[in-house]
Amino acid sequence: MKNTKKFAVVGHPIAHSKSPMIHNLFAAQFGIALEYRKFDFPSGCFKKEVDNLKKMGYFGLNITLPFKHEAYLYCEKLSEKVKQTSSVNTITFKNDCTFGDTTDGIGLVKDLLLQGVKLSSSNILLLGAGGAAQGVLIDLLENQPMHLSIFNRTQEKAKNLVDAYQSEAQKKNITLSVFDPNSNNFKFDLVINATSAGILGDELFAPKNIFQSSAFFYDMTYGKDTAFLKAAKNCRAQFSDGLGMLVCQAAESFRLWHEGLEPNTLEVINKLQKSF
Ligand code: ATR
Repeated sequence: MKNTKKFAVVGHPIAHSKSPMIHNLFAAQFGIALEYRKFDFPSGCFKKEVDNLKKMGYFGLNITLPFKHEAYLYCEKLSEKVKQTSSVNTITFKNDCTFGDTTDGIGLVKDLLLQGVKLSSSNILLLGAGGAAQGVLIDLLENQPMHLSIFNRTQEKAKNLVDAYQSEAQKKNITLSVFDPNSNNFKFDLVINATSAGILGDELFAPKNIFQSSAFFYDMTYGKDTAFLKAAKNCRAQFSDGLGMLVCQAAESFRLWHEGLEPNTLEVINKLQKSF
């Protein structure tokens, strides 16, 4: 076991995490031996606990809620994307340095493309303006939609997000705006739920008219029949939960840690779907 690289996912809560299973399935595809554990950190102890894992010789960590911003503050070197999103979900310890990256946005985009959802020239509505929404916005813009609107329960936060990314959108000729629920324009190609309503098990605060059968509805939460997915089903639209995003973001972390190896994500998504 001397050369077995050690990895872990850290968060709170963490018991439900599928990351150890996903990384072990990826490793098996390449015949790689690795150890992948999960750690539940008490709040206020992130730095001390990560320092500890570093000393113990861990090679990489996945970071999940609620520590993605703390991980951003912790890392010494940051990828360009992290500098824009202030969120880290992948830490690599290498040559005595701590690198922070984020693979959430790539994970979302790869899963959407895997499911045949076209992003270029599309009209996207993003629900939510918290960390999860900010974490994927830059990757959505990179895929060149025509319009991207953001709706949030607290619209002030949606406005702040739009303002922060407006120049990036303009460079790409994309119309980025706050969605006005009083407008009559409810025709979207893709509606993404990046709110925490599903995780919290709450009713979703969103305009009812957005649920139309012509759109594809994607919930970034997985393994739950959320109010968002129920509404999408009721209007007979196509829909997906975020299981594929989870697997695809993990694949991107795996690629960063294992010299560019790209696992077969579809195989792992199919296996995980059977495990629910
Ligand atoms: P995360 O890191 O998961 O994004 P967050 O930064 O706390 O968590 O953001 C949570 C997002 O979900 C916010 O956009 C929040 O809306 P508010 O800004 O109005 O708080 C949104 N949210 C939480 N519960 C919601 C609900 N029941 N309906 C709609 N939006 C909700």
